[in-house]
Amino acid sequence: MSNLDFLIEKNISILSCPVCNTPLQKHPKSYNCKNGHNFDIAKQGYLNLLQSNKKRSTDPGDNRHMINARRHFLEQGYYQPISNLLNERLSSHISHFTNDFPLQIVEVGSGDGYYINRLRETNDYCHDGNCYGVDISKEAAKIAATKYQNITFVVASAVELPFINNSVDVLISLFSPFYEESAKKVLAKPGIIIQAVPLTNHLLELRQVLYKEVNINHTAKNILTQAKYFKLEETKILNHSIHLSDQASIQDIFSMTPHYWRTSPERKRELSLLQQLDVTLEIEFRIYTNEN
Ligand SMILES: C[S@@+](CC[C@H](N)C(=O)[O-])C[C@H]1O[C@@H](n2cnc3c(N)ncnc32)[C@H](O)[C@@H]1O
Ligand SMILES: [Zn+2]
Repeated sequence: MSNLDFLIEKNISILSCPVCNTPLQKHPKSYNCKNGHNFDIAKQGYLNLLQSNKKRSTDPGDNRHMINARRHFLEQGYYQPISNLLNERLSSHISHFTNDFPLQIVEVGSGDGYYINRLRETNDYCHDGNCYGVDISKEAAKIAATKYQNITFVVASAVELPFINNSVDVLISLFSPFYEESAKKVLAKPGIIIQAVPLTNHLLELRQVLYKEVNINHTAKNILTQAKYFKLEETKILNHSIHLSDQASIQDIFSMTPHYWRTSPERKRELSLLQQLDVTLEIEFRIYTNEN
C-alpha cells in the first residue's frame, strides 16, 4: 500500500495544514493535524484554510455578485461546450495514463463549482471524497459547497495550494490564476494539468461594447505559457458562438469576468441598453504532464 493510500484509508485527507504542512484528518465537523491545529467546517460545508496573514485584502477573489452571476449564467448551459471538452480531453488522457483509481482531482479557482461538479457527475474516475475545488473567494466556496455536497470546497490560494506533496493526480485551472511552483509541489508523478485560457477573440463582441479600443493581446494572468517543469502534451482550441437573448444574460457574462472591475460607468450604461448579443468563445485547452 502506498503512503497516499494509507493516508486516505485512515480518513487522513490529502489536504495539508496551512500552519505546519502535515496532513489533515477529517472529522464530522472539522479537520485537524497531528500538531493540534484545528479548522472547522463551515455550516455550508466548505473549509477555510486561508490564513489571514496570507490575504492581500479582507475579501480576496470574486465577490458574491460575481459568483451569483456566474452561477446563473452557467446554469443556463451557455458554457456547457467548455465543460464537455474538459471532460472529454481529461478522459482521453487518463485512459492511457494510469489504472490507479480513484484519482485525486483538484480544480483551482473553482468559482461556483460548475465544472468540477460536471466532471464528478460524468466520469467514473472522479469519486466522492476525491474531488476538490479551491478558490480564494469565501463567497465562491460558500455557494459551491451549498449546492455540491460531494465535493470538498476549500478557501485557499493558488499560490500555496493546501495539499500534501505529490498527492494530486489531476490539477485543473480554468480562466484562473495559476502558479507553477505551487502546482509542481502538489502534483503527483505521473500527474496531469489541464488549463483553459482565453484567446484573442474570446468574448470579443462584449469587449467591443466595453472598451473604446479592444486590447487584442488580452491574456489571462499567470497562464502557463512556458512551463518550466511540465511537458505540454496537447493543445486544443474551442471556437464557438453563443447567442445571448436577454439583458440578464448579458449582465451575467459581464459580471463574471474581470471586465467587471475595469469598465467605465458610461460603458456599463451602454451595455445595459442591449437586449441581445452574439458572443464568440475562443479558448485554448492546454494539457501538461508531470512524468519526467
Ligand atoms: C474568472 S473566475 C473562473 C472561475 C471558474 N474556474 C469558472 O471558469 O467558472 C476566476 C476565479 O479564480 C478565483 N481566484 C482569483 N485569484 C485566486 C487565487 N490566487 N487563488 C485561488 N483562486 C483565485 C476567483 O475568486 C474566481 O472564482
Ligand atoms: Zn498543523
